Amino acid sequence: MAISSTQTVLDYTKIPRHVAVIMDGNGRWAKKRFLPRVMGHKKGLDVLEDMCRVCAEAGVGYLTVFAFSTENWRRPADEVSFLMGLFLTALQKKVLQMHENGLRLKVIGDRSRFSEEIRQSIVRAEALTANNTGLTLTIAADYGGRWDILQAANALLQEGKTEISESDLAEKLMLSEAPEPDLFIRTGGETRISNFMLWQMAYAEFYFTDVLWPDFDADEMHRAFSSFAGRERRFGRTSEQLPQEQQRP
Ligand code: IPE
Ligand code: IPE
Ligand code: MG
Repeated sequence: MAISSTQTVLDYTKIPRHVAVIMDGNGRWAKKRFLPRVMGHKKGLDVLEDMCRVCAEAGVGYLTVFAFSTENWRRPADEVSFLMGLFLTALQKKVLQMHENGLRLKVIGDRSRFSEEIRQSIVRAEALTANNTGLTLTIAADYGGRWDILQAANALLQEGKTEISESDLAEKLMLSEAPEPDLFIRTGGETRISNFMLWQMAYAEFYFTDVLWPDFDADEMHRAFSSFAGRERRFGRTSEQLPQEQQRP
């Protein structure tokens, strides 16, 4: 059954606060159309802009997207360079519209391997949108879940800590100010985490779809929200222990 925003009333009481997305399938989308892979990335950026609107309208507080993994440097040099160009476009141009829409932009990941121009554009884009109160869009770029845990551990070592608690580590992770993702979506048919937010997704609800990211749209996002709304999040407890309002209908 197709779930359409015009036909389905979303359960707004169960909209995730934080949605994390692996936007996968760009290359295959382009290949199916006999286009160069990078055209899929270009279309993918347009879809991301749409999804920011859809999430903001639904009341999602944080949308975190995996744009470039620590492993994606292994791709052909021309694809990597196209992706860097697209990143710059997002940071320098697309951010202006995002700012008008009240979005707060953040970038997480290891910035050291980016060009100086990209690094400066990240700082500017974050500063421009820092005081906005709408959706927080976080772009994970040169990000890896293992890298994140290691940089947090190293920061604690630098502080001279010899023993660390769960909350010590959590505080040093990228995105520590956001709630942990409630809903994790991966498009493109693969059912793996590919080194995304390993620590933060301990209790995320997983949602996989075969839809390729450039084909993802508002209806698809609402379908994911509906799936999320039907989950019972027990966090280790039994169903009977949950407050009445959290139990499955
Ligand atoms: C995801 O799409 C975007 C990035 C990894 C940058 P892919 O480029 O991985 O697309 P497929 O998986 O090859 O179709
Ligand atoms: C994961 O997608 C990373 C991003 C979407 C940025 P990949 O396409 O790189 O993942 P694998 O290699 O199929 O696991
Ligand atoms: Mg892929």
